[in-house]
Amino acid sequence: MAEQKRKILVTSALPYANGSIHLGHLVEYIQTDIWVRFQKMRGHDCIYVCADDAHGTPIMLRARQEGIEPEELIARVAEEHQADFAEFLIGFDNYHSTHSPENRELSELIYTRNRDAGHITTRTITQAYDPEKEMFLPDRFIKGECPRCGTADQYGDSCEACGATYSPTELKNPVSAVSGATPIEKESLHYFFKLADFEPMLRKWTTAGHLQEEVTNKLNEWFAEGLREWDISRDAPYFGFEIPDAPGKFFYVWLDAPIGYLASFRQYCERTGTDFDAYWKKDSEAEVYHFIGKDIIYFHALFWPAMLSGAQMRTPTAIFAHGFLTVNGQKMSKSRGTFIKARTWLDHLNPETLRYYFAAKLGSGIDDLDLNLDDFIQRVNSDLVGKVVNIASRCAGFINKGFAGRLAAQLPDAELYRTFVRASEEIAAMYEAREYGRAIREIMALADIANQYIDEGKPWVLAKQQGAEQQVQDVCSVGLNLFRVLITCLAPVLPATAEKSRAFLNLESLDWDALAEPLEDHRIETFQPLMTRVEAEAIQAVREASRQDLETTAAPAPVAAQGSPLNEDPIRDLISYDEFAKVDLRIARIVRAQAVEKADKLLQLTLDIGGETRNVFAGIKSAYAPEDLEGKLTVMVANLAPRQMRFGISEGMVLAAGPGGKDLFILEPHPGAQPGMRVK
Ligand code: MSP
Ligand code: ZN
Repeated sequence: MAEQKRKILVTSALPYANGSIHLGHLVEYIQTDIWVRFQKMRGHDCIYVCADDAHGTPIMLRARQEGIEPEELIARVAEEHQADFAEFLIGFDNYHSTHSPENRELSELIYTRNRDAGHITTRTITQAYDPEKEMFLPDRFIKGECPRCGTADQYGDSCEACGATYSPTELKNPVSAVSGATPIEKESLHYFFKLADFEPMLRKWTTAGHLQEEVTNKLNEWFAEGLREWDISRDAPYFGFEIPDAPGKFFYVWLDAPIGYLASFRQYCERTGTDFDAYWKKDSEAEVYHFIGKDIIYFHALFWPAMLSGAQMRTPTAIFAHGFLTVNGQKMSKSRGTFIKARTWLDHLNPETLRYYFAAKLGSGIDDLDLNLDDFIQRVNSDLVGKVVNIASRCAGFINKGFAGRLAAQLPDAELYRTFVRASEEIAAMYEAREYGRAIREIMALADIANQYIDEGKPWVLAKQQGAEQQVQDVCSVGLNLFRVLITCLAPVLPATAEKSRAFLNLESLDWDALAEPLEDHRIETFQPLMTRVEAEAIQAVREASRQDLETTAAPAPVAAQGSPLNEDPIRDLISYDEFAKVDLRIARIVRAQAVEKADKLLQLTLDIGGETRNVFAGIKSAYAPEDLEGKLTVMVANLAPRQMRFGISEGMVLAAGPGGKDLFILEPHPGAQPGMRVK
């Protein structure tokens, strides 16, 4: 167990300084923080740094829009980000900004070393230019009609309606999103990083165990496409660092962003007297890990090691990419109230519950993970409150009241305790390998065993029997010792609950090594509730607040759907016009209606939609006698996928409205309508 003390530097990707932290970001910061806390608990020297990514056109324009300097914007966002992170218990050892003197110096250093080694070249390119604002326009800031489907108001790189991707020059009737002016084409000199110079080095590096297998495979595709020169300059006006010896040219934000890892670490080193070069010189023995999302692999697995190697610095030990967060199975959506900001969560829910749920869902791969809100409530309540915390609360009272807080002098059932300690080492290996989901499953299996042990020991029965005191103390002492193992294993995930438990157990610290010795003849403190249940109302409040967020921040606001009593979930999904347009509504004549045997709500309808007949089961029996319906016209959804029901196949749906029961009315069109007519 006594591993050598490792020197580890860890980073998470730097969040952009023009937006709030949301639950998607938190997947990454929580994943990283768990790993760092785990390493620290194992006694390693592990440093976790991060920073705001403060440069680039979007930040410059956002500041302009607010009528403030970019420096003011990034200072405000930095404060907001750090408050969010602190409350989610993300334990950075240093948090800096890419707009900092350290980063300027390191960016210049890495750039000039690469330049002097011949890895930078220049060439004139033609780009879209806003003649009114006198600035070049990134693709995202040009809008126009999609060259494929003609949808208006599409961004310069892809169409939201048909999914086509193209270059901004292909847009029809393009306009600048900044001023509305028609962009012109303009030439300018750009600086390029010659990525291809590093192809041999990168081919070796990307297959030498620094990357996850799925990532290596992705990179092979990129190698096959050829490594192109990377445009690292932008023209003024730009919020960033001016390139040395190139007046009016600025480093593209993605050049100085990863260097921000070094800048934050440099600031840490200066504050703490740590040796920067010991970590970053070419033959450094320290380990360096970057946690990132899978969308930014290209920058971290190709450009970044190449830039470092061109600057005669060491490359990362490994890059750990993770997948994207979905909520209730779908991309986070503002209209569904599932685009949830960190702050909104904090307003209503305990941050540790999210940490726990993400941990339970995270593996070492790049698969996306889903936050299912119903499953979340169930899981947190049953695992954390129902299983883990329960062990302590079941045992503590007896020890406190009956034994003045003292655990048994000698732990009985030593073998059970040993089993837990051995399992804790396996759990440690799972954390190390970022298999948190497996670790959590193992911990919960142990919690079940601990609860079963207490169930069988029945201290609440023994406590009423004369002469059974020792047995009560024994069972509860074992229970609390098992609890200590479990909360130690959960400490990287639940630092606050672990801290409360540490105080309750009256221990100096919680760490793996200390578990070898059980707590015997040890005094504990009075038990305080460690965690409370998650209530469904709190989740509902988060979703409502997330939608309100949208209404106050987005322009123009979409039409807010009203809650409906027929739908348990007051937050209705909005569909796009295109989705709506797919629904084929037709006039139908009900040629036959009959009751369905054994079904008290259903009528079986035979519908004529102009020469074609459809069989439809409709839940309208409470409102209509079959004979009243025959011959009537109604409206049906004609292109619904057929559904197998208990009584047969239903080939569509009729439209009805009303509160239900007797008051349910099928839609009856104007008598002049003809079966088969399309409803518009
Ligand atoms: N500024 C760059 C990173 C520069 S690192 C030198 C950036 N910022 S970001 O704010 O867009 O994202 C920060 C991190 O959060 C990225 O690793 C990104 O993949 C991750 N995530 C952002 N949205 C996410 C989800 N919905 N789900 C999971 N991770 C997500 O990229
Ligand atoms: Zn299109």
